[in-house]
Amino acid sequence: MAKEKPWSGRFTESTDAAVEAFTASVEFDQRLYVYDIMGSIAHAQMLAKVGVLTKKESDTIVKGLKDIEAEIDTGQFEWSVALEDVHMNIEARLIQRIGETGKKLHTGRSRNDQVATDLRLYLRDGIDVVTHSLGQLQQAILDLAEREAGSPMPGFTHLQVAQPITFGHHMLAWFEMLARDAERLQDCRGRVNVMPLGSAALAGTSFPIDRSYTAKLLGFEAPSENSLDAVADRDFVIEFVADAALIMTHLSRMAEELVLWSSAQFGFVELSDAYCTGSSIMPQKKNPDVPELVRGKTGRVTGHLVALLTLMKAQPLAYNKDNQEDKEPVFDTLDTVLGSLRVFTGMITSMKVRRDHLLRAAVMGHATATDLADYLVRQGVPFRDAHEIVGKAVRLALDTDRDLSQIDLEEYKKLSPAIGKDVYGVLTVEGSLKARDHLGGTAPSQVKAAIKRARTRLKKSGP
Ligand code: ARG
Repeated sequence: MAKEKPWSGRFTESTDAAVEAFTASVEFDQRLYVYDIMGSIAHAQMLAKVGVLTKKESDTIVKGLKDIEAEIDTGQFEWSVALEDVHMNIEARLIQRIGETGKKLHTGRSRNDQVATDLRLYLRDGIDVVTHSLGQLQQAILDLAEREAGSPMPGFTHLQVAQPITFGHHMLAWFEMLARDAERLQDCRGRVNVMPLGSAALAGTSFPIDRSYTAKLLGFEAPSENSLDAVADRDFVIEFVADAALIMTHLSRMAEELVLWSSAQFGFVELSDAYCTGSSIMPQKKNPDVPELVRGKTGRVTGHLVALLTLMKAQPLAYNKDNQEDKEPVFDTLDTVLGSLRVFTGMITSMKVRRDHLLRAAVMGHATATDLADYLVRQGVPFRDAHEIVGKAVRLALDTDRDLSQIDLEEYKKLSPAIGKDVYGVLTVEGSLKARDHLGGTAPSQVKAAIKRARTRLKKSGP
C-alpha cells in the first residue's frame, strides 16, 4: 500500500505503480532541499507576522524544518517516491515530526509557487558559484598573459598564418570572451532574483500575506508582479542555460586551440602530464583528453538549452507538469560548466609555453607580408598595388624556400623601386609587433597596459 499522498482526498483509487515512478521527481529534485526548507521557513515566519499562524506555531514549524535539514545533511532522511517530490517529502516528514501544526505550513501557497521559488534560490547561488569559477580562470589567463606579454607567435585566420601577435595578446582575447560571459551571468542574476512565492497555484491567495516581507527574508530583489507568469515561466532557467552554453562554447574554442597547439605539428604548448593520458597501444602518445572532453561536453549544455526551449514552447499558462522536466537539464548544466571551468583553470596554470617554437612559426609563415605592404604605402604606393607587389615577393620566397627577410635588396628593387634598405626593419616579427601600437593592438607595451586594465576590471567584478 502506497503512503497516503497529501492530495489524495478526491481520489478513490491509488496511483498505478508505473505512473508513480513516471511522475515522481524526488530522485533528482531532492537536490533543492536546502532551498525548499529556506523558502518554507520564510513562508512560515511571514504567516506568523500577518497573524495566519501564531508565533508559537511558526517557531515549531521552523524548528521542525531545521531538524529535517540536519537529517538530510547527515544522510538520515528517507526519501519516498510515493511522496513524489522534494516538497511533499519534506512536508510529510514535518507533519510526522511535529504533528498537527505541520499541516498548517502549506497555508496560502502551492507547490507551483514553491518550486519556482526553490529553483530561483538554487540558481541564484549557482550563478554566484559559476561567476567565482569564471573569475578564477580569468585570473589564471591574466597571469599567463603577463608572463607571455611579449612572446611572438603567429596569429591565424582560416587557421593559416596571418600576422604576428604575442601569446599574451591571444590570452587577452580569451579573457574578453569570459568577461562578457561573467557580465551576462550578472545580468541574468537580476531577473532570477525575483520571488514567485505568494502566487500560490496561479491566482494568488485569499490570506493577507506580506510578500515583500517574505522576499526580504529570502534576499529577493522584489516579489513578482503577476501570479500566473510567476508560476508558469521558466525563462530564467533558459537564460541561465543559454549563458552557460556560451561559456561552454568559449571554453570549447579555447580547448580546440590547446588540442592543436599541443600537437607535435604546432608544438606551441606542453600540457602537464596531470592533464593528459597515454595510449594503451602507442607508447609515444600523450593525449590532450582534458581539452577534448571540455570540447565534447559543450554539446551536452547546448543540448540542454534546446531541450528547455522545446519544453517551454507550447505550454498554455499557467503551470503545467511539463515544467518538472526543467530540473535535470539545469542541474547537469551547472555541474558541467563548473567541472569544465575548474579543470581548465588547473590546465592553464600548469601548462608550459614553448617560446622558441612560437617564434619559429611566426618567422616561417610570411606573417610580416602585411607590414611590407604597409611599408610600400608609406613610400607612396597605393595599397592595392602594394598588395600585388607583396604577393609577388611571397611567391618568390615560396619558390626559393626563403622567408621575406631573406630576399635581397636587388630582388626587391626589381619588384618595386620604392623599396629601400630600411625595409628589413619592418620584415622582422619584432618590428611588426611594435608597429601595432594602439589600444587593442598587439604591441607588447599595449598588451601590458591591457593586462593592467583587465586586472582592475576583474577586481571589481571578480572572485
Ligand atoms: N515537482 C513539481 C515540479 O517540479 C512541483 C510542482 C508540482 N505542482 C503540481 N501542481 N503538480 O514542477
